[in-house]
Amino acid sequence: MADFDLIVIGAGPGGYVAAIRAAQLGQRVACVEKESMLGGTCLRVGCIPSKALLESSHLLEEALQGFGGRGIELSGVSLNLGQVMQHKNRVVQTLGGGIDALFKKNKINRLFGHAKLLGGGKVAVAGKEGPQEFSAKHILVATGSQPSTLPGIELDGNRIGTSTEALAFDEVPQHLVVIGAGYIGLEMGTVWRRFGAKVTVLEYLDRILPGMDGETAAEALKLFKKQGLEFRLGAKVTAARAQRGGCVVEIEGAEPLKCDRVLVSVGRRPNTAELGLDKAGVEVDARGFIKVTSDFTTSADGVYAIGDVIGGPMLAHKAEEEGIACVERLYSGYGHVNYAVIPGVVYTEPEIATVGYSEEQLKEQGTEYKKGVFPFMANGRSRASGHGEGMVKVLAHAQTDRILGVHIIGTNAGELIAEAAVAMEFGASSEDLARCCHAHPTLAEALKEAALAVEKRAIHF
Ligand code: NAI
Repeated sequence: MADFDLIVIGAGPGGYVAAIRAAQLGQRVACVEKESMLGGTCLRVGCIPSKALLESSHLLEEALQGFGGRGIELSGVSLNLGQVMQHKNRVVQTLGGGIDALFKKNKINRLFGHAKLLGGGKVAVAGKEGPQEFSAKHILVATGSQPSTLPGIELDGNRIGTSTEALAFDEVPQHLVVIGAGYIGLEMGTVWRRFGAKVTVLEYLDRILPGMDGETAAEALKLFKKQGLEFRLGAKVTAARAQRGGCVVEIEGAEPLKCDRVLVSVGRRPNTAELGLDKAGVEVDARGFIKVTSDFTTSADGVYAIGDVIGGPMLAHKAEEEGIACVERLYSGYGHVNYAVIPGVVYTEPEIATVGYSEEQLKEQGTEYKKGVFPFMANGRSRASGHGEGMVKVLAHAQTDRILGVHIIGTNAGELIAEAAVAMEFGASSEDLARCCHAHPTLAEALKEAALAVEKRAIHF
């Protein structure tokens, strides 16, 4: 008999969630992780620590600028970056301990070390206790991704780094240059601007947030510029190197830029090296992503893959959904991921949140649609909280009225998008959403009003 029913490789949000679900379904599960902390990139050096910094930097900016206008007078407000980082580390540690506890509760065997597929349902684990070998009926690869870089960029793990370094700067940069105006560049760029850095974002394309609804991204660009972020669009970075206590960034057809820190955020690539994929007969595509069928089966018998390592949106919650669907298919017979309704959130301030199709995608497909837009400046709660910027946009099918996409830029957009996702998951029309009673005064009323605006009957705008 095999040692386990399932061995999960990687304890990120995809892997650890799949392990827990498989254990709930009565399987004997092991999860291999080479880092001492469970939780993957998301918990250690991604989503969670960045949100801790985002909250702290937001509070600082509010205290420095926002409170005064509302009659709360503060003096002597200053930044203690050491404590900010300690708070971030505590949050990460606590949540990491939480996953350990969940593993114990669900009787999941945590194997420590680097896993390698050996073929024939076997996995080698190179850990502190030396090499060990385990067998399982099913193996699930959930090894995630790592930051990509560009040729010509010399990452030195200090002045020129990726999100990992930008989450742990020991002082506020004087001038941070961010390469790439995607999720990471904007989240970390806005965090360090709020902590006091001058931030210049260099983006190859002529817009920010490629792939996101164009009008929403354009609104975001306007707001970030107003906040003091500098953007150079159409800027192709060709090289970056550390030099005499600073850095130089070279841009095609422009003067080199000097700064003291560089964040390289030009995408991520799958973690497939040293995994023994070849030996086990697991095929990858031209970009290195593991090829899977719609039920997450790889080209090797009994080997499955989910999350960043198979491509698609590199989002923790997409990996979770895939992990659960994969093991539910294996152990309960049914599991499903609705890729049409995977929300995406850029955690800037204001947040940018999106679900479903963008206007550009609908036009490209030739789908006729109606559009309702409602600005937060016309929303009472938004004004009362002092954050009137941004808008909600609802896109609905021209004939059936089914909601096809919702795009929000505004405070708490990441929370508000959940309602849109639920509505879309249930196949709601814009009228369905518009007829739901929303508590007053809430930010969520802006979503209802945008749904009303689809038929030009918004009340407050
Ligand atoms: P990204 O793919 O979001 O953006 C990379 C940007 O770099 C693009 O705008 C691209 O045009 C630009 N770029 C590429 N080459 C360039 C060059 N030579 N010069 C200037 N610009 C260049 O990648 P990012 O921000 O690194 O994030 C990686 C992944 O992590 C994304 O897929 C994202 O989904 C995920 N992520 C998600 C988060 C969230 O859900 N809140 C947070 C952080 C990351």
